[in-house]
Amino acid sequence: MLSKRLETVASLVTTDSVIDVGCDHGYLDIYLTLKGIKCLATDVSENALRGAIDNFKKYNLDIPALCTDGLNGIDIKKTDTIVISGMGTDTIMKILNKDINNDLVISSNNHLERLRRYIVSIGYFIDKEVLVMDNNKPYVIIKFKKGKMNYTDYDYIIGPTIKDIDYFNYLINKYTKILNNIPDIYKDKIKYYQELINEVKNRMKSVK
Ligand SMILES: C[S@@+](CC[C@H](N)C(=O)[O-])C[C@H]1O[C@@H](n2cnc3c(N)ncnc32)[C@H](O)[C@@H]1O
Repeated sequence: MLSKRLETVASLVTTDSVIDVGCDHGYLDIYLTLKGIKCLATDVSENALRGAIDNFKKYNLDIPALCTDGLNGIDIKKTDTIVISGMGTDTIMKILNKDINNDLVISSNNHLERLRRYIVSIGYFIDKEVLVMDNNKPYVIIKFKKGKMNYTDYDYIIGPTIKDIDYFNYLINKYTKILNNIPDIYKDKIKYYQELINEVKNRMKSVK
């Protein structure tokens, strides 16, 4: 069975074809292929790709698989959605450091503010964000589309589109824990987190 996180990734794909960068076991590709979406499964690890190919065989699916670093050597079609999921922001930024114009569905393990800022800086806007709790861990899956939109600093930190009470509660808890551990002498840092918590609370009001 597909994890809730990968199910959410799949739900954000709106094109007929996908390039799955870092497919690992290939579970997402199997799920999407069974739904009629064409997939190219890729991974930098030969071992991982071998596992994916074995899984494709188990399902009797003929899914093309390519061992490559990021998008290197891939013939990207206009209508492909590029999925990059389950990696850190630094790796994702390196992979996206080329001229691309495709829809992106991204699930980063860390540094979401930096991720949003970078992808917006290369000509994208944030179309949709979804919080998913998977094994008690929160993941924000982000769909980016080509185009321009202006964002505030808080939008980059919190996410501009997400209006989910569970997500806001998660952020308030996270920032409150950080705040409670900041020594009194770091006034600026304390102010920063207090203001951030207030911003999340304000956004929360607009949902209720
Ligand atoms: C934690 S797994 C995530 C698998 C799946 N995408 C998911 O979200 O569950 C990360 C995968 O990304 C692959 N990977 C890491 N860096 C990569 C890169 N630069 N290009 C392609 N694949 C990469 C790893 O080999 C690994 O199989």
